[in-house]
Amino acid sequence: MSRVGIITLSDKGYAGEREDKSGPTIEKIVKEYGYEVVFYKVLPDDPGMLKQEMITLCDEDKVDLILTTGGTGFSKRDNTPEATLLVGERQVPGIAEAIRGYSLTITKRAMLSRGVSVIRNNTLIVNLPGSPKAVEEALTYIISELDHGLKILKGTASECARK
Ligand code: MTE
Repeated sequence: MSRVGIITLSDKGYAGEREDKSGPTIEKIVKEYGYEVVFYKVLPDDPGMLKQEMITLCDEDKVDLILTTGGTGFSKRDNTPEATLLVGERQVPGIAEAIRGYSLTITKRAMLSRGVSVIRNNTLIVNLPGSPKAVEEALTYIISELDHGLKILKGTASECARK
């Protein structure tokens, strides 16, 4: 069972001014796909805090997957992709492309999400947009293919079944 960490980036959520619905949406979806949620936290839109939390999750807690939500837009405080790129060792553009490609069929505003996907050692990190609706749409689209990627990353699968 793959272990997942969920981080919501929201100044209002962190301050207790808004209930986080996006993190619990991620939790519900990943559990349906058999993932174990081992970490969930709401952080402010502070790239330094996010970077440190992601490094701890990768290097000490050794989670398989980190899913972030929020902070991918154009606001001056939206710095999730920049923090994620600092933590990542290798980029996974296809996942971010898939999220935007599918999301563009729903709303052209999907072009405004700057989310990235990266690998750090044995951990895959995927930025999802901020709203619960966007999270549900994006994660539901990509989740079926993540397990195969994680198995290749960990060396427990080497062959790609023809699909
Ligand atoms: N992607 C999907 N699938 N559905 C959406 O409704 N909203 C967009 C975009 N991606 C959206 C989406 C909007 S309106 C914005 S501003 C960006 O995500 C950035 O969101 P964030 O800053 O909350 O991460």
